Amino acid sequence: MSVIRVHSAIRDYEVHLSESFDFLDAFEKIPNRFYVIDSNVWKLYRDSLFAYLNPQLVLVLPIEEERKNLSTVMEVYDALMARSAKRNMTMISIGGGIVQDITGFSASTLYRGINWIFVPSTLLAQADSCIGSKTSLNYKNYKNLIGSFFPPNQIYLCPKFTKTLKDKDYFSGMGEVIKLHLMGGEVLARELMSNLPALTARDNPTALLSAIEKSLAVKLSYMQDDEFDTGKRNLLNFGHCFGHAVESTSEFAIPHGQAVIVGMIFANIVAKARGLMSLDLFHELQFKVLLPALTTRPTQSQLNTEQIMAAMQMDKKRTGEGLVLIMLTEGFEMCKVEDMGFAELTSANQELLSTLAKA
Ligand SMILES: NC(=O)c1ccc[n+]([C@@H]2O[C@H](COP(=O)([O-])OP(=O)(O)OC[C@H]3O[C@@H](n4cnc5c(N)ncnc54)[C@H](O)[C@@H]3O)[C@@H](O)[C@H]2O)c1
Ligand SMILES: [Zn+2]
Repeated sequence: MSVIRVHSAIRDYEVHLSESFDFLDAFEKIPNRFYVIDSNVWKLYRDSLFAYLNPQLVLVLPIEEERKNLSTVMEVYDALMARSAKRNMTMISIGGGIVQDITGFSASTLYRGINWIFVPSTLLAQADSCIGSKTSLNYKNYKNLIGSFFPPNQIYLCPKFTKTLKDKDYFSGMGEVIKLHLMGGEVLARELMSNLPALTARDNPTALLSAIEKSLAVKLSYMQDDEFDTGKRNLLNFGHCFGHAVESTSEFAIPHGQAVIVGMIFANIVAKARGLMSLDLFHELQFKVLLPALTTRPTQSQLNTEQIMAAMQMDKKRTGEGLVLIMLTEGFEMCKVEDMGFAELTSANQELLSTLAKA
């Protein structure tokens, strides 16, 4: 088992990466423990991995984005209080990013903070969201409007969980893995290019564990000194400025990480047009990394320029007149601009549409 130590202003914590599920046994020794488990994960593993769990100590939570809200947090409070939850209890939650957000918010607010162990079971949660201290809930139609900064006390992850993920969810996580490898510099980016066939074939757990570990290390390097997301951490939004807009125009039919891949293709088109990325690197990234991992493609109407423009203008971090875009440049350095106008968006979007039509 390898360990990544994360320094946080709230509390330091550790990510334990393991090729086996052995860590689950040790949880049974924790006093005042309570499990919250994604209902799909529960169905898949209740008769095997979780057969030993006392059902009195488990809340099985049906998972949908529409339930990532305060009502579901109240369900968690109710289940905990029904078992006379105390300040010194430990919540152990097992699931993807939705379970992480719901249980993290619940853990941060109950008694102003209880012990929380998180076991990420999706690729997205393992390689990206589990570190970063953020918890977010949707409110009415506003996505991730409510939240807190609250890291788990411990994170335990085993890539074997991802074996049972649907392709849609696996390739969504892959979008974040790719983003983080590209942001980690040329050596890591090239390593990804050679490992991508194994990662997309989903048949090499050792390559996957290594890709997860490297993704977390890169994320950590951008979070250091900016835990509360006021500067450098913002570069982690590479692929997200345009990607969030595609999620919105597709009404979330394009999974998050897949929208991020589309966003990275778009950003590279702009970087190439601005002379920040050579044609060689552009093609290499396009054909060796981005297009092979893009399994859910947006339709022409989901890439309507006016609607994309309107969605990008809603970016909460936008301060000036122009649109914000984070780009990868020739030297594998990241750069952020805030001056993208409608004409530039239109022509890059046109090129994106023809790229996707040809691919
Ligand atoms: N807090 C953060 O920092 C942060 C960062 C990124 C994303 N998020 C949030 O995370 C959510 C997306 O997370 P996600 O992609 O992990 O999705 P998810 O939690 O919705 O899980 C995706 C699907 O996979 C199922 N699942 C989970 N583990 C499984 C397993 N081992 N085998 C089979 N099926 C399994 C779930 O039931 C669900 O149907 C979004 O709500 C997003 O806003 C939060
Ligand atoms: Zn993301």
